Amino acid sequence: MTIVPVEVLDVARTARRITVLTGAGMSAESGVPTFRDAQSGLWSRFDPAQLATEDAFRRDPALVFGWYVWRLGRVREAGPNAGHLSLAQWARSADVRIVTQNVDDLHERAGSEVLAHLHGSLAAFRCLDCGRPFDGDLPEPDAVGRAAPPRCPCGGLVRPGVVWFGEPLPQKAFADGVLACRDTELLLVVGTSGIVYPAAGLPDLARSMGVPVVEINPEPTELSPSCDVTWRTTAATGLPTLVAAL
Ligand SMILES: NC(=O)c1ccc[n+]([C@@H]2O[C@H](COP(=O)([O-])OP(=O)(O)OC[C@H]3O[C@@H](n4cnc5c(N)ncnc54)[C@H](O)[C@@H]3O)[C@@H](O)[C@H]2O)c1
Ligand SMILES: [Zn+2]
Repeated sequence: MTIVPVEVLDVARTARRITVLTGAGMSAESGVPTFRDAQSGLWSRFDPAQLATEDAFRRDPALVFGWYVWRLGRVREAGPNAGHLSLAQWARSADVRIVTQNVDDLHERAGSEVLAHLHGSLAAFRCLDCGRPFDGDLPEPDAVGRAAPPRCPCGGLVRPGVVWFGEPLPQKAFADGVLACRDTELLLVVGTSGIVYPAAGLPDLARSMGVPVVEINPEPTELSPSCDVTWRTTAATGLPTLVAAL
């Protein structure tokens, strides 16, 4: 049986405003792979860090676009897990603000409003050249997973609406995320390895404001040493246990 650490329970019971910073581990139990897990199937021989850049897209648009179409398909087949659902439930009795690095929509499908998608969204495509949103049909990947990106009316290639390595975060989302981490009574950091900046700097920012920071992650991370409490459990076990105990 999972027991909520008493320090976590104490602060979670009294906090009226809670910010939850989520990463890929939040969706792992929904069957959406994290970057650190080996990629499966067709994509197992590719390193995500080598696919998730503008350079990679310009070099081989069909390879990179096909990877995103495949990932979007994985997300559409998946559903929110008990962790996503319990955050939506918590928001009915407290001000729970979700700041996510995830590009999936599993928080929304669990019934949560997401304050900030720091790294964009898998389902939001736009033109590489003029930025115009694209909502047409996506191409079917071929047998090896490649899919040529559609073209914008301006002639530009359609790109995924996610933040690639080397790109700045969407300004408003990051500003909202910063505010939510400073102006809160508890920061829960769920399923993030804490190596992708600037998102990984948010827990330290919260702590510098005196906000208690609790990590929920089955493994130690770069962030663990600077958290007030590290709770070694998973998102779909820890969060429902916590919310049920409130
Ligand atoms: N679902 C998604 O949207 C998705 C999936 C893969 C990668 N990404 C992107 O990859 C980048 C990587 O950073 P990151 O820190 O989010 O992910 P990461 O892959 O670097 O780290 C995942 C973390 O989740 C932890 N974890 C694994 N299973 C867990 C579980 N069941 N419950 C709780 N924690 C668990 C791991 O120990 C690890 O610390 C992000 O920018 C994100 O946008 C997103
Ligand atoms: Zn265009």
